[in-house]
Amino acid sequence: MDIVIIGTGNVATVLGRKLKAAGHRIVQVFGRTPIVANELALILEAPYCSSWSQLHKNADFYLVAVSDDVLQNLSDYIDLDNKLVAHTAGAVPIKVLKSISGNYGLFYPLQSLRKDVKDLPTTPIIVEANNTKSLEQLTAIAQSISPLVTELNDAQRLHLHLAAVLVSNFTNHLYALAEEYCIQHNLNFKKLHPLLQETANRIQLYSPAEVQTGPAIRNDTTTLQKHIDLLKDNEPLKHIYEVLSKSIRHFHKV
Ligand SMILES: NC(=O)c1ccc[n+]([C@@H]2O[C@H](COP(=O)([O-])OP(=O)(O)OC[C@H]3O[C@@H](n4cnc5c(N)ncnc54)[C@H](OP(=O)(O)O)[C@@H]3O)[C@@H](O)[C@H]2O)c1
Repeated sequence: MDIVIIGTGNVATVLGRKLKAAGHRIVQVFGRTPIVANELALILEAPYCSSWSQLHKNADFYLVAVSDDVLQNLSDYIDLDNKLVAHTAGAVPIKVLKSISGNYGLFYPLQSLRKDVKDLPTTPIIVEANNTKSLEQLTAIAQSISPLVTELNDAQRLHLHLAAVLVSNFTNHLYALAEEYCIQHNLNFKKLHPLLQETANRIQLYSPAEVQTGPAIRNDTTTLQKHIDLLKDNEPLKHIYEVLSKSIRHFHKV
């Protein structure tokens, strides 16, 4: 397919590379910052533009990978007639594209994507569209770059997006807090890597509820109190420690 990539950030870069590798032709990259648009265009061997008025008119598919808030105002800049267009935002309804094309939908990569990571990760794609033909087309494009393609409606996707925030963004934030805590106490955070890896590996085989460990589920009140005492001068981390310990105890009824 001839594809226009709108956006030059993490998702535009990773999906652009995957689409090109799958044999699609990237016919244009749109980016509001010319120097950044040029960088991605070079990688994808495509021309670039930085003005909405120069957007390619005859591509088969327009992939819109811009910040969520920009999607609301897209109709101020572009009119794609009935060209197939999809956005990549997990928490934004597809109707946001209704006024720019008669054939619109979603192409949501359920993965944490960063353009500076060299290896392209396996990326499940969630698709949705406003009509059967568009859904078939989006599914086919998604299947050309991923073995894991699922159709979900707006409401289901919002729930999945929330769950994705819990498993990825929140756990990563806990890693960042743990790293900072280690640095403050002259410890090497990397010593925790095998533990971190084992926790992630285990849930491939078991429900996370079945494999919970730690002082909270054991109701080990002495250890819990020792940890809370250690955090007496770190109110934000103490709060998180208490809230999560309470949640574990509540969830497991201990
Ligand atoms: N990263 C992920 O892991 C991930 C995963 C799934 C879905 N998503 C979704 O994919 C979308 C893009 O995310 P991302 O991570 O690729 O974001 P990003 O790296 O921050 O890139 C955002 C892109 O939007 C452009 N942009 C921002 N404001 C603009 C405006 N007013 N006009 C035109 N372009 C504008 C930026 O251009 P400048 O560089 O010029 O600012 C940049 O090209 C979001 O909806 C996000 O929710 C992200």
